[in-house]
Amino acid sequence: MKVFTESSKLSEALKQRKGTCGFVPTMGALHEGHLSLVDRCRKECDTVVVSVFVNPTQFNDPNDLKNYPRTAEADIALLEKAGADFAFMPSVEEIYPEKDTRVFDFGLLDKVMEGPSRPGHFNGVAQVVSRLFDIVGCDIAYFGEKDFQQIAIIREMVRQLNYPIQIVPCPIVRNPDGLALSSRNLLLTPEHRKAAPLIYQTLSEEVNLHRAFPVEETKRRVIERINANPLLHVEYFSIVNADTLQDINDWSEAENVRGCIVVHAGAVRLIDNIAM
Ligand code: PAF
Repeated sequence: MKVFTESSKLSEALKQRKGTCGFVPTMGALHEGHLSLVDRCRKECDTVVVSVFVNPTQFNDPNDLKNYPRTAEADIALLEKAGADFAFMPSVEEIYPEKDTRVFDFGLLDKVMEGPSRPGHFNGVAQVVSRLFDIVGCDIAYFGEKDFQQIAIIREMVRQLNYPIQIVPCPIVRNPDGLALSSRNLLLTPEHRKAAPLIYQTLSEEVNLHRAFPVEETKRRVIERINANPLLHVEYFSIVNADTLQDINDWSEAENVRGCIVVHAGAVRLIDNIAM
């Protein structure tokens, strides 16, 4: 595996490639969730490129950016083992030689869920992903479904900017106790880590009831059950049309429905979702 920090050198090296180029953008602190994307990319593409870049423009909280785990050496070792061909680990100046002032319009997609809670977040995601797409010039890009809304935003960005890139959503990878893998899990206290599996447990139990309750009541049940644990606090639980991301009021309103949740476990904001 070759490691690049300069975009011009990576682009130059990628000119020699043959066949399909697959790309996995990450912010590092890699875990099995990221490695499942690299694995899938390795199976489906001739060349595998993975970026590791903690993108400042998508953080609306400076403390969150400062505390975001950075584990470059471990990341390189994991990517090598996973069979990546190129790791791209640029500096902030390399990705943004000048301030990126682009403002995207995602319509209603970013007016819900993470949008209002994290102003500017999706604009920053679109900025960095489009910068990375320009540099890597891949055919297929892989994203984890844990960030369900992010995939819809990236699809819309690809549509608006006409990238000839296929976006592949990949299933959430979970710990044996159900907690979705996330770099942020490293920041949980032992007590909060112990409490956190209640999130997925509650969601999956509700799914197993096969829509026995109306949408509003389902939301209330999930929120009440999780909030009953004093270490957890639900910021939102939305039941949405999986394509438009807009709230539904009745199960019959959409074929693909997703339950999307954010729970605060102490100082850590945990995100998860489930097909309902
Ligand atoms: O999902 C992430 O890790 C990031 O939002 C991404 C897509 C790598 C952009 O910084």
